[in-house]
Amino acid sequence: MNAIVAEVTRRGRLSFAEFMELALYHPTAGYYTRRRTGPGPAGRSGDFLTAPTTSPIFSRTLAELLVQSSAAFGEALTFVELGSGEGFLLEGVLAHLADRREKVLCRVVSVEAAEWARSRIAKRCKGIEVEARLSDAPWPDGPVVLFASEYYDALAVNRVTARAGSGGVALLEYFVEPDSRGGLQWTFGEPSTPTILAYLAEHGLALADGQVVEIRPQARSVHAGHLRWCGVDAVALILDYGHPGRRLYDPRARRGGSLVGYRAHALVGDVLSDPGEVDITAHVNFDDLENGAADAGWERGIIRPLGSFLTVHGALSFLPSAVAGGERLTPEEWAQLAAAKRLLLPSGMGADLKVLAQGRGRAWQAYLQLATPPPAEA
Ligand SMILES: C[S@@+](CC[C@H](N)C(=O)[O-])C[C@H]1O[C@@H](n2cnc3c(N)ncnc32)[C@H](O)[C@@H]1O
Repeated sequence: MNAIVAEVTRRGRLSFAEFMELALYHPTAGYYTRRRTGPGPAGRSGDFLTAPTTSPIFSRTLAELLVQSSAAFGEALTFVELGSGEGFLLEGVLAHLADRREKVLCRVVSVEAAEWARSRIAKRCKGIEVEARLSDAPWPDGPVVLFASEYYDALAVNRVTARAGSGGVALLEYFVEPDSRGGLQWTFGEPSTPTILAYLAEHGLALADGQVVEIRPQARSVHAGHLRWCGVDAVALILDYGHPGRRLYDPRARRGGSLVGYRAHALVGDVLSDPGEVDITAHVNFDDLENGAADAGWERGIIRPLGSFLTVHGALSFLPSAVAGGERLTPEEWAQLAAAKRLLLPSGMGADLKVLAQGRGRAWQAYLQLATPPPAEA
């Protein structure tokens, strides 16, 4: 029997958040943590694409932003990546920096939960620190840039719904239990923890009849912990799928929630099927990350669509040079252009993915200058 199904069977019934934690991070069978010898989850030969695995234009733009940031801050930076996967982004950033690396970065810290992935990162990126948790790394000394791509949307969510009955509207949580055929099925019950009711109340969420929402009450304190580690002079760039709560939880826009599974670049409707083989994800409520920043004494920040973030930071100048010259493109350049367009245009990740930029101290002031587009020329 599948180890995750066996664990659910042993425990009888789990909240969906407990199930998602097991399905993604069970030590030997979790989707992210189980040992892999072939391709990892993210990338063309995996199950889904992320911005860093879609086009090298992403790592190149980030590398140039780090160059400009260290020049603006007046010193070399500590660069931290949360949830590095196999280290493709870091590999790209370090390759683009090449012999500028020491001037720009005094330290590079990669944080990744999966042991198999940590060893790939260490092989791919020489001279960096690779940790399972950010708190395992020594505190930084100078300015920090912290980056995360699809880290928060891979954290477990509680799933709740509202049902109107004769006694009014009842709030029900989704649970997972074994079925009679050796698989898993949904059941419903009273919320497993008072934290759920407290979260809904704090965010002013009164669910409509039949509305389903996913919530991540732990995201705020997890994020605040990451930001506190960075110290008083830092910028965080958080790239993820999500919205502010008023939009994410608007019953007219998204009545069924945002929970989905991915396998081999296709959506999986039943996220209870084949646990450990399917990626499970749900959108981020950016209010949680803004509140976490405020708790840590940071600015709440600015949210931009990915395409606009990349454009402001100069990505268009990294398109194949034949594009600017109006010359004929080779098949390879067409492929590069198509991949870059997925990140830049509003018809794809350019609008669906968001970048939340937050900061504190001198580094934040310097970043704001870099992130403000120059006035248009008349
Ligand atoms: C969706 S993948 C994104 C990978 C990569 N950042 C990218 O964009 O291609 C999420 C990654 O975050 C890692 N992760 C999730 N929770 C984590 C945690 N608490 N600590 C460290 N890594 C974590 C997962 O193991 C996985 O590699």
